[in-house]
Amino acid sequence: MSPQSSAPTTELRIPEHVAIIMDGNGRWAKQRGLPRTDGHIRGQDALRATLRAAAEFGIRYLTVYAFSTENWSRPKEEVDALMSLLVSAIHSETPSLIEEGVRLEAIGNLSRLPEAAQQALRESIQATAACERITLIVALSYSSRDEILRATTQIAREVAEGRLSADSLTEETISAHLDTAAFPDPDLLIRTGGEERISNYLLWQAAYAELFFSSVYWPDFDREALREALEAYTARERRFGKTSEQIQLED
Ligand code: FPP
Repeated sequence: MSPQSSAPTTELRIPEHVAIIMDGNGRWAKQRGLPRTDGHIRGQDALRATLRAAAEFGIRYLTVYAFSTENWSRPKEEVDALMSLLVSAIHSETPSLIEEGVRLEAIGNLSRLPEAAQQALRESIQATAACERITLIVALSYSSRDEILRATTQIAREVAEGRLSADSLTEETISAHLDTAAFPDPDLLIRTGGEERISNYLLWQAAYAELFFSSVYWPDFDREALREALEAYTARERRFGKTSEQIQLED
């Protein structure tokens, strides 16, 4: 346990939306002489534990990077294993999602997913639509540049058809055409696994997010690791381009 976590409980400031890059499954497995897919299987357990802890902390949105556009170029066996894990996880977890008040959503170029995965997602999204405790947004076949390109194509189409005017485009127009249109921007972005990169994840949405890099491999991430990130977030001052004095006057 870190010295911070054994200190008397300080009041945590809870972000509304936490986004996570779940990295380190492969290295976790390699360290133990296991196949990479075992790391992904343990990654599913870590996701379940983190989701539960996030709901208990009062976080309203949790977005997790489960499969990037770039991940399509991994060895076929690993891609296939991740897709079957996704389908079986959705089937096995949906009843507990409902029981625990978790609404499932997905972002990304979902049309590239195998039909079985698309169908499982559609069914679970529909089955959990009325759940209100926390929203779990799974990024699948997702990359930020691909999302922005798809949004831009759509905006260009609407301009060409006369439904939008090129002179009246605003930042909100862009936000409203992204996959995340229905969700607030993330306040805190966590990356596990020791690398300190954003890797094409929520580039537009995370413009003002606090970044937290954890050396913990994703399968070992848990409530305590999440608490550490929340403690770091609590200690940060979010200025959104203003001065420290302005922010203190607003508080
Ligand atoms: C990154 O680790 C992780 C992934 C590409 C997959 C994430 C998937 C899960 C956590 C499984 C559970 C999720 C669902 C929705 C079923 P990596 O393989 O890049 O690790 P490495 O950097 O150590 O090689």
